[in-house]
Amino acid sequence: MAQKRPACTLKPECLQQLLVCSQEAKKSAYCPYSHFPVGAALLTQEGRIFKGCNIENACYPLGICAERTAIQKAVSEGYKDFRAIAIASDMQDDFISPCGACRQVMREFGTNWPVYMTKPDGTYIVMTVQELLPSSFGPEDLQKTQ
Ligand code: THU
Repeated sequence: MAQKRPACTLKPECLQQLLVCSQEAKKSAYCPYSHFPVGAALLTQEGRIFKGCNIENACYPLGICAERTAIQKAVSEGYKDFRAIAIASDMQDDFISPCGACRQVMREFGTNWPVYMTKPDGTYIVMTVQELLPSSFGPEDLQKTQ
């Protein structure tokens, strides 16, 4: 299969703003059970940024991650073409990595867009959704049966 071009990179000032937004979003985290705040900032093709935080629940399985909060906010407002997402946590020595459920929800909206996984000092690693979730199942697959 032909290799797709990598997702286009963001201008440095644009990326910087996204990273700051992910850290701001983390401040709203509601995580009384895990005490593990996470923030996400999702950039749309139109240039809008949607922030999300993790929101836990006394009924533990109902908690939702920061990334999915941001994606659900954007989609529910009519935005579903995404340029990038940045994720922030309080882990000083590790880059925050999205859970499997969030990877699948990201994948719903394309495979070739970048996920910036950060540390509190603003350093990051970046991988595309395709790299984070190879051999994935997506909306196109539903069209492949007779
Ligand atoms: N969490 C996120 O919000 N995003 C991630 O990428 C990893 C984990 C949340 C879920 C839960 O509220 C807490 O972090 C601990 O797992």
